[in-house]
Amino acid sequence: MEESKTKRKTVMSGAMQQFCDVQSCVEVSAKTFLLRFISPEIAASAQPGQFVNVLAAETGEGPLLRRPFSISRIDGDIVELLFHAIGKGTILLSRKRNGESIDVLGPLGQPFRIDTDYNTALIIAGGIGVAPFPFLTSSLQNLGKRLETFLGYRNDKQIVTSHLKNVHIATDDGSKGFHGNVVQLVEPFIDQKDLGKVKIFACGPTVMLKALSELAKRNNICCEVSLEGHMACGVGLCQGCPVERTGDGAKYALVCKDGPIFLTTDVIL
Ligand SMILES: Cc1cc2nc3c(=O)[nH]c(=O)nc-3n(C[C@H](O)[C@H](O)[C@H](O)COP(=O)(O)OP(=O)(O)OC[C@H]3O[C@@H](n4cnc5c(N)ncnc54)[C@H](O)[C@@H]3O)c2cc1C
Ligand code: FES
Repeated sequence: MEESKTKRKTVMSGAMQQFCDVQSCVEVSAKTFLLRFISPEIAASAQPGQFVNVLAAETGEGPLLRRPFSISRIDGDIVELLFHAIGKGTILLSRKRNGESIDVLGPLGQPFRIDTDYNTALIIAGGIGVAPFPFLTSSLQNLGKRLETFLGYRNDKQIVTSHLKNVHIATDDGSKGFHGNVVQLVEPFIDQKDLGKVKIFACGPTVMLKALSELAKRNNICCEVSLEGHMACGVGLCQGCPVERTGDGAKYALVCKDGPIFLTTDVIL
């Protein structure tokens, strides 16, 4: 890669655009890839819950629009993304290898609010919704919070548990852990254990987030979710990622700029 290209760096809406060297990209479970790229700047400034917008290919072979990915973990100067290869952009990204570069814009969006009043964090993810939680886990551990992690999958083929704590698994087909969905798994846990004050952090399919939002409301628990709707610019310019707000103020929020993290009491899922 040319030196000038690796060094190019601009700032857009508070985020950096950089060409970053890929350190590795490996399949860690079925169609699920862990891509590690080098960016001391993003590594130093990112907070859990934020995302990066990645151009899958710089030539005509890839989609024109960037693709958003949660920052999954920071490891020194390295930023990790965990993603499902489901379409053109993610399949191209999954083929990146050491020595290649990717065009990254970030960190973007609002982070989880972690420094609030609670004793136990319940991290709840459906499928690739697990992506932002290794980063969140390390930050919550630094704050001394108790952590319980609940992961729901269709089956045992796509499970990823690295860098998570106290993991409980549910599978739709019963091939691993609890036979059922992750909301069914977490509900009795909330009732039975002495957890102190609880806060839920969740990411996954909207149907799961909706069920969790209702569970949180019934149990008077604060619940923050990461929304993963479709996006284009990623920085609040195109108005392409609205989510309906509750309350009397503006009718819509933008997932890329006002989120992707929202309190479930603030949005209509
Ligand atoms: C803030 C944010 C964070 C995200 N973080 C991650 C992450 O950490 N890991 C990860 O794997 N994915 C994440 N996503 C989703 C990811 O951006 C999409 O999977 C990706 O854009 C698909 O690109 P593609 O070109 O491969 O697929 P496309 O060819 O564009 O689409 C393939 C199929 O996937 C569907 N699809 C595309 N995007 C989404 C989406 N956002 N939600 C649901 N279905 C979609 C399309 O409708 C189509 O059916 C995130 C999305 C957002 C908005
Ligand atoms: S993706 Fe453009 S405004 Fe959100």
